[in-house]
Amino acid sequence: MPFATFTEDLRLGHERIDGQHAALFEAVNQLHEALRLGSSRHELAGILAFLRTYTVEHFQTEETFMRDTDYPGVVAHTAEHDDLVRQVKELEEKHAAGSMTLSLTVMAFLKDWLEHHIREVDRRLVTHLNTR
Ligand SMILES: [Fe+2]
Ligand SMILES: [Fe+2]
Repeated sequence: MPFATFTEDLRLGHERIDGQHAALFEAVNQLHEALRLGSSRHELAGILAFLRTYTVEHFQTEETFMRDTDYPGVVAHTAEHDDLVRQVKELEEKHAAGSMTLSLTVMAFLKDWLEHHIREVDRRLVTHLNTR
């Protein structure tokens, strides 16, 4: 069973956003699997970089939708995005410097953050997008 399952309740009813969320879960699972298989620091760094890049791309997609539709929650929503990107960059730096080991705690943090953000924050955005 995969580490992070993109369950039906995480599907918000917006094709583009749902598709990107599913891909994010896949990237999290890829990182988890690499960790489980004892991949090298170099390999893990590559997957982590991909996860960060894809996350930024996804956040930009949502932020464009927010701006284009005058979404009233844009500031708070974008702040949550910025906060995660900052934390992932910090993880990446510490991992690269060897001062942190990627662990199940880190994986659980990523998974929980995503699930919570999708259920609460992204859901409000999709409701807004779909009622226009
Ligand atoms: Fe979001
Ligand atoms: Fe999202």
